[in-house]
Amino acid sequence: MPRVRFRSPFDDVTVEVPEGTSILDAAEKCGATVGHACGGVCACSTCHVWVRKGLESLSEQEDAEADRMDQAFDVRSYSRLSCQSLVGSEDVEVDITQESLQAFLDENPDLRHRLEAEGKWPLKR
Ligand code: FES
Repeated sequence: MPRVRFRSPFDDVTVEVPEGTSILDAAEKCGATVGHACGGVCACSTCHVWVRKGLESLSEQEDAEADRMDQAFDVRSYSRLSCQSLVGSEDVEVDITQESLQAFLDENPDLRHRLEAEGKWPLKR
């Protein structure tokens, strides 16, 4: 099975998933801090990740995702919405964007408060 690795200032986790699993579902399986304000229906951009490895092996980007990506922050040629990106046969590595981290911490205030108390959030630029 392909492996998906998630990296952020708070994550370095890897999970094996069956082909056809969305990157967002893989994140939820391993507890990675990928936000998902709309619940994974392509109605926000909070699940935005940068795909550092395996980009070509993912499912093709549909028009709805491309349109939604226009509203994301710091979009790059290797950006994808994790809820719309299905894993193929190859391993994948993604960086979780700050936009997605912010959304995740908004959805998990206990964790956000702990990271704030530890001086780890907001991120220093
Ligand atoms: S979770 Fe909203 S677009 Fe992916």
